[in-house]
Amino acid sequence: MKIAIASDHAGFELKEQIKEFFSEMEIVDFGTYSSESMDYPDTGFKAAKAVAGGDCERGILICGSGLGMSIVANKVSGIRAALCQTKQFAELSRKHNNSNILVLSGRFISEYLAKEIIDVWLNTEFEGERHQKRLDKISDYEKEE
Ligand code: RB5
Repeated sequence: MKIAIASDHAGFELKEQIKEFFSEMEIVDFGTYSSESMDYPDTGFKAAKAVAGGDCERGILICGSGLGMSIVANKVSGIRAALCQTKQFAELSRKHNNSNILVLSGRFISEYLAKEIIDVWLNTEFEGERHQKRLDKISDYEKEE
């Protein structure tokens, strides 16, 4: 699975740890490339567009709280980004929402928990059925925009 990853300065350290831990996966890094202060939309939009356009199957975005990256990613048509602070949320975001971007908080969760959340998120399938028609309503709205 090809994964897009991006962060701002507040998520940089966790981004690097994730890349190292999941090094067997194909990961495309859209920055940022240092802990120098920068603006999360500059990297978040690039990674989200790579997922929406099909270049990457899924994405992982990280900023300080995860809130800014969530807002950015969910502006991109076709993206279903989920800010997950627990493994349960990661599981539900896949089973019910077919999330294609996982957003993590670089400042509020441990490296260990982040890896556990990613592991669950990568290995949980969308359940479809009643949830699909709900996602269809979101896609229909995007088409009307
Ligand atoms: C940066 O200080 C911080 O505002 C950013 O990482 C993020 O939390 C924004 O939502």
